[in-house]
Order: sequence, then structure tokens, then C-alpha cells
Amino acid sequence: MAAKLTFVEDTWYFAGLKSEFKNGQMTHKTIAGQPIVVGRGQGGKIFALRDICPHRAAPLSAGQILDDGTVECPYHGWRFGQDDGDCTHIPAICSGQKDPSAGIKVRAFPVREDGQLIWVYIAKDAKFKGEPDCEPPRWDMADKKQIFVDRLRLNCHVDHAVIGLMDPAHVSFLHRQWWWRTGGSMHDKAKKFEPRERGWAMAAHTPSSNSLGYKILGGKPITEIAFRLPGVRTEEITVGKKSILSFTAVVPIDENNTEITSVFFSDMAIVKILKPFIKKGANIFLNQDGDIIKLQAECLKHDPRLMLIDDADKQAKWYYQLKKEWAKSRAEKRNFVNPVKATTLRWRS
Ligand code: FES
Ligand SMILES: [Fe+2]
Repeated sequence: MAAKLTFVEDTWYFAGLKSEFKNGQMTHKTIAGQPIVVGRGQGGKIFALRDICPHRAAPLSAGQILDDGTVECPYHGWRFGQDDGDCTHIPAICSGQKDPSAGIKVRAFPVREDGQLIWVYIAKDAKFKGEPDCEPPRWDMADKKQIFVDRLRLNCHVDHAVIGLMDPAHVSFLHRQWWWRTGGSMHDKAKKFEPRERGWAMAAHTPSSNSLGYKILGGKPITEIAFRLPGVRTEEITVGKKSILSFTAVVPIDENNTEITSVFFSDMAIVKILKPFIKKGANIFLNQDGDIIKLQAECLKHDPRLMLIDDADKQAKWYYQLKKEWAKSRAEKRNFVNPVKATTLRWRS
């Protein structure tokens, strides 16, 4: 495999949920190796700046948001515009002295708040100005307040986390538990896949009869699982007019750390009633994935060769192809051509 450990750039990364950013507060996030302060001004507007003061490298996230719409560095009080990062004030300058603030700026990252989801755009070019030529993905269900959120930090490069998340063959081993499915119930699966915007989807289907979890929902649920770059997996379950959106974002922190956030949205009454159980179940799944990644990380230190087989690992292959094509299409300033072709994949699980 020997894929180079890179990050997807010129793309929107999930930065958190609306409820995690309160007015007048700032939070440090490292996304794809970039130190970022994500904050919400007193007026409620979200912003994202490089979290390193250009003066002498204090983190702006340790400073404060002022009423005039600027962020004040905690070290010497330099101020930067929330939206453009322009330096507007250097307190140490005496009257009559030349003010060097014009032209000093801290990198500003484009941000979006859409429903409950907050996104930050990471451009490859650190000098990128203006607005990106694409918008973050959106789901109507994510306009409603989430039922719960779970988050885990994994000690691996984002690629391992993504391919682990999209890996159908590990479920009946790593996630073997009585309330989901038992080891004895493995059988052949054949699922139709199709290309989707910057990713692919397992075409809408009725979930396999050996998934006890789905039976609880009642009715005939239709499930669609989709993946898109840079690392968002969604599972949408529709029962009649009601639905569930299980949203998982895998976000690189740096080369060896990844944050995985799983958010559950639904307008189904049964989901609200069963929330404690669903939350517990999702948490068990997430921690099982986290535990194997911890074990895997020890082995990966030896830089072993890895294998991807057909069809069970096909989605991992697609992920690498998508990443490559995304970087290539951006570098060549042309439209992205989705390398995924509609197909049926078969595996046992
Ligand atoms: S380090 Fe930020 S003002 Fe000096
Ligand atoms: Fe898993």
C-alpha cells in the first residue's frame, strides 16, 4: 500500500457543533496540522484564525474577544480583526510613533455554521484569501438539535481512522456483541455502490436481517451509508416520514492524531426514548474502534507493509484514489473527476 501520509487540503473540515461555541468564547483546535482558534464573537458570529500571534507566538485562544469585534492577544495586547485577521491595534506604540500595524495580519480561515454543524476551510495555500469555490456538505436533519454526541481521540494518522470506519469486514469480529449480531450469523453480502459528490454511497437498502439494532426501530427502515472527502461518513435511516442521521467526522489533528466525532440526529420519538441505550451502544462501538487503533499504532511503528484486498477493502482503495484525484485536480486547476465507478461489492460479514 505505502500510501503517503498526507492530509486532504482545499477542503472543509468539521470543526464542532453549534452548542460547543458560546458567544464571546474561543477554543483551540488543531486541524490538519494547522493551529486554529475557533471563536464566536459577542454578536454570535463564528470565526477562525491561526492560533499563533504573529508578534511573538502567544496563542490567541488564551486572549479575549473585545466588543469591537477584535481578538486581543494575551501577551502584549495586539488586536486582530475576527473575520480578516488584520492587526488593528498595537498598544505599545506611543502617540507620534510610527504605527507598524498596517500590513500585519494573522491567517483567517473561512468558516461556516450550517444548522448544528461548524466547518473550517483549510486551503493548501497559507496565503489563500477570499471565499472557497465550494461549500460544506449539508443535511436537513442536522438543522435540528442533536440527540447526542460522542468524541474520541485516536493515536493514528487520519487515513487509518477513515479506512477503519469504512471497513465492512471488521464489524463481525471487532464489534461482535449479542445485542447487535453474533459471530455465528456471518453470511455473504452483496451491496451496490455508486459514486457521490467527492465520495460514494452504498445505495439505499433495507438493512440485513441479522442486525438486531435495526429491528427495534419498527417499520421497514431504508438505510443509506455514504462517505465523502475529507472524512465524513453518514448513515441515514428513513422509516416513513421520520429519519435518523448518524454523522461521523474523522478529522486529522496532526500526522499521528485524529479526532473522531459521532453525532446522532433524529426526529423519531422512539429514538428519543431509547437515547440512553443507543448512546451507550454507539459509545461501545466507538471505543472498540479506538482500542484496536491503539493496538495497531504499536505495530505501525515498525512501518509494516499493509494489504488491501478486493472487495472487502475496496472502499479503502477508493478513499486513497479520491484523495489522490482531489489533490491532483486542485493542482491542475481542473474539475474533480470521481474515480469511483458504480459496482456491486461482495464480502462475508
Ligand atoms: S505575542 Fe501577541 S501581542 Fe505579543
Ligand atoms: Fe468499527
